[in-house]
Amino acid sequence: MEIQTIGVVGAGQMGNGIAHVMALAGYDVLMTDISQDALDAALATIDKNLERQVSRDKISQDKKDAAMARIKTTLTLTDLGPSDLIIEAATERETVKQAIFEDLLPHLKPHTILTSNTSSISITRLASRTDRPEKFMGFHFMNPVPVMQLVELIRGIATDQETYEACLAVVEKIGKTASSAEDFPAFIVNRILMPMINEAVYTLYEGVGNVKSIDEAMKLGANHPMGPLELADFIGLDTCLAIMNVLHDGLADTKYRPCPLLTKYVEAGWLGRKTQRGFYDYRGETPVPTR
Ligand SMILES: NC(=O)c1ccc[n+]([C@@H]2O[C@H](COP(=O)([O-])OP(=O)(O)OC[C@H]3O[C@@H](n4cnc5c(N)ncnc54)[C@H](O)[C@@H]3O)[C@@H](O)[C@H]2O)c1
Repeated sequence: MEIQTIGVVGAGQMGNGIAHVMALAGYDVLMTDISQDALDAALATIDKNLERQVSRDKISQDKKDAAMARIKTTLTLTDLGPSDLIIEAATERETVKQAIFEDLLPHLKPHTILTSNTSSISITRLASRTDRPEKFMGFHFMNPVPVMQLVELIRGIATDQETYEACLAVVEKIGKTASSAEDFPAFIVNRILMPMINEAVYTLYEGVGNVKSIDEAMKLGANHPMGPLELADFIGLDTCLAIMNVLHDGLADTKYRPCPLLTKYVEAGWLGRKTQRGFYDYRGETPVPTR
């Protein structure tokens, strides 16, 4: 089955990136959110990011205009029902996602594929509450979507091969690379990345290094483009903590216990770049380490 129309649920930082790359690849996109402000902000962000690609000669002005024209928005979730593929990228709360799929079900076409961009919630569990677990899978983009090359495709226990192949064809059409992951907590990238970030926070907590020495050590010693603490600030410390909790709860192994210092930063509301303070303070001209 060839996919032509894509519904995107949630117009936050991931949803707008997903709409961007899908429209640029020629898909008709209908994006929804519970907030008109979020939809307006998403369109403005997409326009700005496409403009940047034009100014760097990555795409032509015509391609940008065509992509913008392919994106429509609505506040009515059920308008997305007739889409060939729906990618849910709403807030990372299981009850929110379940309610979205429940509301959509009576409005779907028989062939509609349902997917979620969740970073950590069980695909099998989300799928089991729909009428089509065989047509349900994880479609996990990395942030920022227009820049990052990888998409993790996660099969639930019931996902059929046809659904997997239809999603794989979409990943190829948008010029990205898929990595196939089984449905276990945090999938592949976050299963490996988050314990590394958590270990960097332990290294800081135990005084083995400070923010600067830890980040510099991993950049120069392991050839990572960003230090782990800088990366944690970019991802959001609340997100890092939530994923560590999913690993800890889901795999029941103490090696995944979140570092108390990570919890303390989150309790302080120092969530990284988005709140201007995390392992670095971003309120001045250059980021200043907070420890
Ligand atoms: N931020 C990341 O680095 C990242 C990376 C990969 C995957 N994800 C996943 O992507 C999803 C979205 O994350 P985000 O960072 O874009 O969050 P975000 O907070 O930027 O955006 C979420 C959007 O969902 C909207 N929303 C909430 N309830 C809704 C509903 N019932 N119907 C429609 N829209 C609704 C909110 O208004 C908001 O605009 C999450 O599942 C997250 O785990 C995030």
